Amino acid sequence: MSASPTSATVDRYVVIGNPVAHSKSPAIHARFAAQTAQALDYQRLLAPLDGFVASVLAFRDGGGKGANVTVPFKLEAFTLANRLTPRAQVAGAVNTLRFDGGEIFGDNTDGIGLVNDIVGNAGCSLHGKRLLLLGAGGAARGALLPLLEQMPAELVIANRTLAKAQELATLAQSVMASGACANVPVLASTLSELQQTFDIIINATSASLHDDVPPIPVSVFQPKTLAYDMMYGTRPTAFLQLAALHGADCRDGLGMLVEQAAEAFLCWRGVRPETSQLLADLRADLQKELT
Ligand code: ATR
Repeated sequence: MSASPTSATVDRYVVIGNPVAHSKSPAIHARFAAQTAQALDYQRLLAPLDGFVASVLAFRDGGGKGANVTVPFKLEAFTLANRLTPRAQVAGAVNTLRFDGGEIFGDNTDGIGLVNDIVGNAGCSLHGKRLLLLGAGGAARGALLPLLEQMPAELVIANRTLAKAQELATLAQSVMASGACANVPVLASTLSELQQTFDIIINATSASLHDDVPPIPVSVFQPKTLAYDMMYGTRPTAFLQLAALHGADCRDGLGMLVEQAAEAFLCWRGVRPETSQLLADLRADLQKELT
């Protein structure tokens, strides 16, 4: 009779962050594991703010196979990795680590998770579209290469602080010049000076965390613009509420959360889990929190 796998014998993964108690990743990866019949153990790991590297190495040296990395450690994970995917290199941040012998492989699955949610789940191609990216911090940078790879007609990066939008646009130019992806016209702008309408608007600012809306002219919306907020919650964000008032189709970042996890699972296990049922269930859970 064979023994059932225990956490001592199955491959072990963690999500490492500070704080990390709120993370939905253990539940998401448990669902992926069950669905793909993969035996694995996935837990939360709270690292001290000054102890990320020591925590990761102790986990790896104890037999851990990989980790998701969340706030505030994605930049340290980037430095720790000794092999990086091109999208992690451009992002300057890592949310997925895989331990292969002495190699610490780092990927960033946030941007591809965003793209897969827009293209795959929302059924909205980015190819040939006028694309507006709001924000120029880590969230915007993390999405840069996967968005450019979709070959939008143009990418406008708009930020409250123009210099940061210009820096990100310059990074995009150098990425394209390196041949990492085809050439796309990329422009930087302030938020208030945006003049045209867009097919797709992605809010990568942290304004939604403060129930705030980036101060954009409402003329950026046209009927059927896809307005996407990387944040999600029980109610539409202030940005999505504004977008809906102006005829946009709205989508929050719950699908991005699920898709970035699916891509991490693929990186670790070589199998891509199916995401639609899980996404529907997580959406239903959010609705229940409202009642
Ligand atoms: P993250 O890693 O989540 O992107 P970040 O690096 O602090 O966080 O960047 C936050 C982004 O949200 C920035 O683009 C910031 O604009 P500034 O560069 O001008 O600071 C943007 N942001 C935050 N609050 C905002 C608000 N209320 N309105 C508009 N933009 C806002």
